[in-house]
Amino acid sequence: MLKVGLLGAGRIGNVHAEAIVAHRDSQLVAVSDVFAENAERLAAHYGAQVASSDAIIADPDIDAVLIATSTDTHSDFIEAATEAGKAVLCEKPVDLDLERARQCKAAADKTGKPVMVGFNRRFDPNFQALKSAADAGEIGKAELLSIASFDPAPPPVDYIKVSGGLFRDMMIHDFDMANFIMGDLPETISAVGSSIVDQQIGEAGDVDTAIVTMSYADGRLAVIRNSRRAAYGYDQRVELLGSKGMLQVENMLENSLIKSTEGGVTGAKPTYFFLERYMPAYKAEWSAFVDAINSGGDLPTSLEDGVASLAMAEAATRSAQSGQPVKLADV
Ligand SMILES: NC(=O)c1ccc[n+]([C@@H]2O[C@H](COP(=O)([O-])OP(=O)(O)OC[C@H]3O[C@@H](n4cnc5c(N)ncnc54)[C@H](O)[C@@H]3O)[C@@H](O)[C@H]2O)c1
Repeated sequence: MLKVGLLGAGRIGNVHAEAIVAHRDSQLVAVSDVFAENAERLAAHYGAQVASSDAIIADPDIDAVLIATSTDTHSDFIEAATEAGKAVLCEKPVDLDLERARQCKAAADKTGKPVMVGFNRRFDPNFQALKSAADAGEIGKAELLSIASFDPAPPPVDYIKVSGGLFRDMMIHDFDMANFIMGDLPETISAVGSSIVDQQIGEAGDVDTAIVTMSYADGRLAVIRNSRRAAYGYDQRVELLGSKGMLQVENMLENSLIKSTEGGVTGAKPTYFFLERYMPAYKAEWSAFVDAINSGGDLPTSLEDGVASLAMAEAATRSAQSGQPVKLADV
């Protein structure tokens, strides 16, 4: 039984707690949060203890730490937890600062302790089916990847101000999805962004709508489109065009009813947001972590994946600011 301490009892902390408790081989032992009420509510719900983050990391009875705190705490907690001998699953991104993330990886690597980064979309069964079909050569040679990722509504501007910007906070998932599907990193990244959804986001120095194009050493191309607003719900689609065909993952809908009348043909909206869309993926992610720790096998995502996608976000941020393509090797 893997004994787990959870740091951070906010939105995503609650999702992870559900997955930890649902897994037959893991037990939620303790929860921390600087906002005590959050930790107390979650701990009471699952019969866990409330403790400080430092006490959880120092507790010799705890095997693994799940880091679901605000992004600016991730590197420090990864370093402290691996130094204390814990296995770690940390939410994305590793840090807001690329150099700090690289330092953190070097420090964690020295301990030899396993660290997985929470790129939950890799565990979505639909994206896994696309990846398997692509790897099996079912559409020949992959040539053009297109990812559309639109949130239903922008977060509060106070969140935007500490988020690190759209490329590090939101598009980082799509960068990782591109790395997962293409099996390689791009050479060059070009980005353009706009604050067309909410002027306050622009005033906070961020963008809410962005397009990134990426080119690979072997000539393949990828395009990622992000928006912080889609009036009809959470839009998550992936398309991979290859020499012998195309693979597409469409949205998950609230239900499968299609109504056809004189007035037209209508269907349900996509599921509202990430909690609704990706709950099975969060559970599969946790399961993969527990299985790898218990078996001593490789983790399906690593700190290296976390640093790679952060470097891509850095390149995209620089490109959007300068108007010039940025080579990934230069960041
Ligand atoms: N993988 C995903 O789909 C996904 C989705 C949402 C958020 N996230 C990531 O998860 C992290 C948390 O996001 P959220 O939306 O749950 O935010 P949130 O604000 O709802 O929760 C964060 C919690 O961490 C607590 N906290 C902050 N600093 C702390 C510290 N030093 N020690 C203990 N607790 C501390 C806060 O009080 C808060 O309760 C972010 O890094 C975010 O990027 C990932």
